[in-house]
Amino acid sequence: MPIKSLIRTIAHYPREGIMFRDITTLLKDPTGLRTTIDQITERYRSEKINKVVGIESRGFIIAAPVAYALGAGFVPVRKPGKLPADTIGCDYQLEYGRDRIEIHVDAIEKNDRVLLIDDLIATGGTMEAAIKLIEEMNGTVIECCLVVDLPTIGGSKRLQQQGHKLFSLCRYDD
Ligand code: PRP
Ligand code: MG
Repeated sequence: MPIKSLIRTIAHYPREGIMFRDITTLLKDPTGLRTTIDQITERYRSEKINKVVGIESRGFIIAAPVAYALGAGFVPVRKPGKLPADTIGCDYQLEYGRDRIEIHVDAIEKNDRVLLIDDLIATGGTMEAAIKLIEEMNGTVIECCLVVDLPTIGGSKRLQQQGHKLFSLCRYDD
């Protein structure tokens, strides 16, 4: 069952010129949702992953069921001010302006084998910031896993050139 065929494209959202890749149509399809989670889970079944980190908010939807299926814990990376205990954060560049993500200081321990999940990579700024946070806590990012890669924007290539492993279920080359 091709994942990509269930992803909807909305032209000119949220701004003129942007082709928005909408995974809600994939998620609402029972076979689509199951296939997405199963394909990711199968890839990491023997990797001894003990923490799955999901990036707010769309990353949560994928990361939590994968963590459950792998028998791993789930850790949220959140937008600023959302986590109640002590956090560390990382600022990153957006197309216009800056953003920030945070993680609880006790969420990752030394020697944790981490699978990092988000729905999509574009500039790679969000994923790169999440990798920094996990590595700052001495966790090992086994791989970054996405449903969608937009390689023309360059984020996935940049992260791979930095030595990070990336895997996506589908990609858009236009
Ligand atoms: C989108 C997407 C990724 C990120 C990718 O999230 O879900 O998290 O942008 O962009 P980048 O590779 O250029 O950093 P968004 O911030 O729109 O928030 P959401 O997940 O809460 O919808
Ligand atoms: Mg997101």
